[in-house]
Amino acid sequence: MDVTVQIARGLEVGRLATLHNGAGVRLRPIRPDDAPGLIAFCGRLSPRTAYQRFFTVRRLRPEDAVALATVDGHDRLAVVAARDIGQATELVGVARYGLGGGDTTPDVGLVVEDAWQGLGLGTMLLAEIMRAGEERGFSTFHAEVLAENDRMLRLLARYAEIVQRTVDRGVITVLFRSAPGSRASATPLSSRSTRCWGSPAGRRTRPPRGASAP
Ligand SMILES: CC(C)(COP(=O)(O)OP(=O)(O)OC[C@H]1O[C@@H](n2cnc3c(N)ncnc32)[C@H](O)[C@@H]1OP(=O)(O)O)[C@@H](O)C(=O)NCCC(=O)NCCS
Repeated sequence: MDVTVQIARGLEVGRLATLHNGAGVRLRPIRPDDAPGLIAFCGRLSPRTAYQRFFTVRRLRPEDAVALATVDGHDRLAVVAARDIGQATELVGVARYGLGGGDTTPDVGLVVEDAWQGLGLGTMLLAEIMRAGEERGFSTFHAEVLAENDRMLRLLARYAEIVQRTVDRGVITVLFRSAPGSRASATPLSSRSTRCWGSPAGRRTRPPRGASAP
């Protein structure tokens, strides 16, 4: 993967990643001004992709998009994959984690726009969100995956170490952590200059669970 750190106005704005078809996307933390982009992104998802992610097919309401684009940087965090289209950018993937009330293990959610699947983006987003979580002190994560969702289950098995699987009414809750030697766990903090995250923010008031949305 070709990675270039871009620094603008003293802020880490993300990193450029080249997908397996040669296309470039920027991986960066979500921002409040991504709310309209999130609505558009959700609108482009196929019913199947939307259902695999949300277990329902629904439109994202503007107020929900604003809430989802506004994370606290510790208990709730999201990374987006964005591509440039002329002067504008378009979101093509989102990874997110969030802590539910009283939970100590973040719930991870991941979705890649249909036309961008199978190009390595899901793997990159999973790596980024796990690495960001680990930098904030979380060592294990869980994800709720439909039992029929082979692609996500394969992705988790390939990239992470599966600690536990629990099946309930067609949904598998997968508890996982970085596989020994994987990039997320192997890269020392001091050499993570290419991460797309800024410094971990301090712990703040816990917001509502956010991983069940893009
Ligand atoms: C699950 C999901 C996030 C995976 O994203 P993705 O971008 O397709 O993931 P990747 O491209 O990294 O890997 C997926 C597959 O593409 C393959 N792949 C990746 N790059 C490839 C390349 N250059 N050439 C051929 N195959 C490639 C991977 O080997 C993998 O194959 P597999 O499915 O047979 O194991 C995506 O399919 C998605 O958004 N699904 C709907 C939402 C969802 O299911 N979310 C999970 C619940 S939280």
